[in-house]
Amino acid sequence: MDIRTTLSTTAVDDARLAEILANPGFGQHFSDHMLTVEWTPETGWHDARIEPYGPLTLDPATAVLHYAQETFEGMKAYRHEDGSIWSFRPEENAARMVRSSHRLALPVLEVPDFVDLVDELVRVDQRWVPDPAGEKSLYLRPFMFASEAFLGVRPAQHVTFMVIASPAGAYFKGGVRPVTLWLTEEYTRAGRGGMGAAKTGGNYASSLVAQQQATANGCDQVVFLDAQEGRYVEELGGMNLYFVYGDGRIVTPETGTILEGITRASIIELAGKLGFRVEERRVDIDEWREGVTSGEIKEIFACGTAAVVTPVGSLKWDGGEVPAAAEAGEVTMAVRKALVDVQYGRADDSFGWMHRIV
Ligand code: PLP
Ligand code: COI
Repeated sequence: MDIRTTLSTTAVDDARLAEILANPGFGQHFSDHMLTVEWTPETGWHDARIEPYGPLTLDPATAVLHYAQETFEGMKAYRHEDGSIWSFRPEENAARMVRSSHRLALPVLEVPDFVDLVDELVRVDQRWVPDPAGEKSLYLRPFMFASEAFLGVRPAQHVTFMVIASPAGAYFKGGVRPVTLWLTEEYTRAGRGGMGAAKTGGNYASSLVAQQQATANGCDQVVFLDAQEGRYVEELGGMNLYFVYGDGRIVTPETGTILEGITRASIIELAGKLGFRVEERRVDIDEWREGVTSGEIKEIFACGTAAVVTPVGSLKWDGGEVPAAAEAGEVTMAVRKALVDVQYGRADDSFGWMHRIV
């Protein structure tokens, strides 16, 4: 795909950029440029361009604003010690966007095109990729939306794909510390045949009221159970889950109605290499409660692109709580280290996961 590039004349100056990169937070600052590509049924993907970052002008009838036909991805660009810049398994994000787009009746953006488009934005905005100290990175947010101005309910005939970039530090304030979870028994995130496995805004919209309750109850994130029986642990609002058993097993809920996390899938392989037996299966919420209480479950952690690997502390619900250690567990930290060492080029990339951009 040919990409037309118009460089910004108002790019952030070096002093301000250094200030931002010193303490980027999450999702608050955006790089100097953005990438846009349009799609119509007649022409397919066309008009790829990188332009100065800025607001969009949308017709009030733009379909995504009404019917939420959209998909997105989350990935990161990492700077290594030698200055080179890499992404982590970008073709997995591209393939997941294809799957999400099928579910949302959006057009397919082929995997190599997705990877090239993301790479090109990172090349143009490479000064926005932070130094590796403190495990900072440039968070990349590709997204696709129904941009046709039409109120009839059908798949849009004009679709826009964009990529924006935002420097990122820790997703949770306070760095690597156990997060507390709120178990919602009132709301579910996904049902059979629904959109749970797709990365689409609607899933996040539906999580917000439960997240609000989590916050009101002093918790960082919400845990969702399956919609059918209200029994099996699915995932958090924006992360997958792992349970570490004392006997060397680590268990993660099976896929189907959850987001198939790329971090989750990578940990299956890394944990195998570290000598753990990995099980993907249903996890009953009582197994969690009883396992922690009996000591059979030694550690629990959450994982995702934004959260990396984050230890889980106590689980609370309406009328109860399973307390947990205030410190991150040993296995959690070993898995975390194995992953970030590959991402930051400090360990051998034996799985061939890293993709060089600059
Ligand atoms: N589950 C949900 C709901 C998410 O939003 C995310 C984050 O992207 C994940 C799981 C983890 O996915 P990944 O590891 O691909 O970032
Ligand atoms: C990600 O990890 O990339 C996500 O999209 C999750 C969100 C909580 C930021």
